[in-house]
Amino acid sequence: MPDSLPLSRPSVPPPLDFMGGATDKSLFPFDVWRRCVNHALRAQARSPGMYRDVAGEQELRLAISRYLAFNRAVSSNWDDVIVTQGAQHALDLMARITLRPGEVAALEDPGYPPAHACFTATGARVVPVPVDGQGLIVSKLPDKARLVYVTPSHQFPLGMPMSLERRVELLEWAQKRGAVIIEDDYDCEYRFEGRPMEPLKSLDRAGLVAYVGTFSKTIFPELRVGYVVPPASLHGPLLKARRITDCHGCTLTQSALAAFMLNGDFAKHLRRMHGIYAARRAMLLDHLHGELARWFEPIVPTAGIHLAARLRAPLTEQALVGAARAASIGLYGLAPFHRRARPQPGLIFGYGSIAVEHIDAALTKLAGILPRVGR
Ligand SMILES: Cc1ncc(COP(=O)(O)O)c(C=O)c1O
Repeated sequence: MPDSLPLSRPSVPPPLDFMGGATDKSLFPFDVWRRCVNHALRAQARSPGMYRDVAGEQELRLAISRYLAFNRAVSSNWDDVIVTQGAQHALDLMARITLRPGEVAALEDPGYPPAHACFTATGARVVPVPVDGQGLIVSKLPDKARLVYVTPSHQFPLGMPMSLERRVELLEWAQKRGAVIIEDDYDCEYRFEGRPMEPLKSLDRAGLVAYVGTFSKTIFPELRVGYVVPPASLHGPLLKARRITDCHGCTLTQSALAAFMLNGDFAKHLRRMHGIYAARRAMLLDHLHGELARWFEPIVPTAGIHLAARLRAPLTEQALVGAARAASIGLYGLAPFHRRARPQPGLIFGYGSIAVEHIDAALTKLAGILPRVGR
């Protein structure tokens, strides 16, 4: 079993922390959530103590299907949706049903380490494929890849979207070889500029794409709810895999989440958080394009709650992260997300859980210490 997280998280986060993958729980409407949980509890108290549908609670699948149609132009029936324990669970189930030991899985480099770990754990040969400004370089895919994992909305960790040409090229590539694509659409909810691009799933006419989503970025990661809308041919095998692994997830959480979505509270929460994250992103970019421009070259993403920035010479990740930590600022390098690709020094700035005034304070402080680090 390979390690899935290359980052060493400090046991006590620094006061000004840019850790990625975190959301701001202080802004989550727990009073509304409590009502949804109570509603789910009352319904559960009235139902028989029995196992439920392996694919998840029906009303949650309906809520997700409607959400995807309206927000992502992904068309599905409610019963196409399979609820999972986060996106990671969906990746694991997909790997179990598509990969035999020794078969090839391909993913982006730099890329998402938990996906790499999960495919490796099946005994597959996992091949990292380089990315450029348009996303995964399709011409560099290994010919025999059975499964290709991509993050088209917001490449993990660099942040650029996959271009439409690449999306079409990838679909054509996969169709020729009968390969399956996992489209991990994490972080698609917060779009700040540009026209939304068609998800691979909605361009897919040949039934190749398993669309994976998560509530880890919109609610919080501990919720452990994600979903997959697989190609029709993989629906049955996925349910079998699910049944023999954990049967089904926590129905109380699923029912509460369904109520939260169907009552309009999820949409309200997303709208509010969009404004808050937009302000954080703007503050971050103001600094990176302003007094920090001598040291950083941001890769401006169109969506998501983190952004990456390259370091200008002579700054190194190690020196910068160390100096920042000594000044109570948590910064995180890009190097650990690389496999074969030669890492260009850079940082990943998560702004899911750092307030706008703390971003301002941290980056003003950083500008003060950088002249000594960069020398
Ligand atoms: C690329 C990517 N996919 C998915 C997720 C969410 O995973 P999960 O739903 O298992 O929490 C993350 C979280 O950071 C991510 O970075």
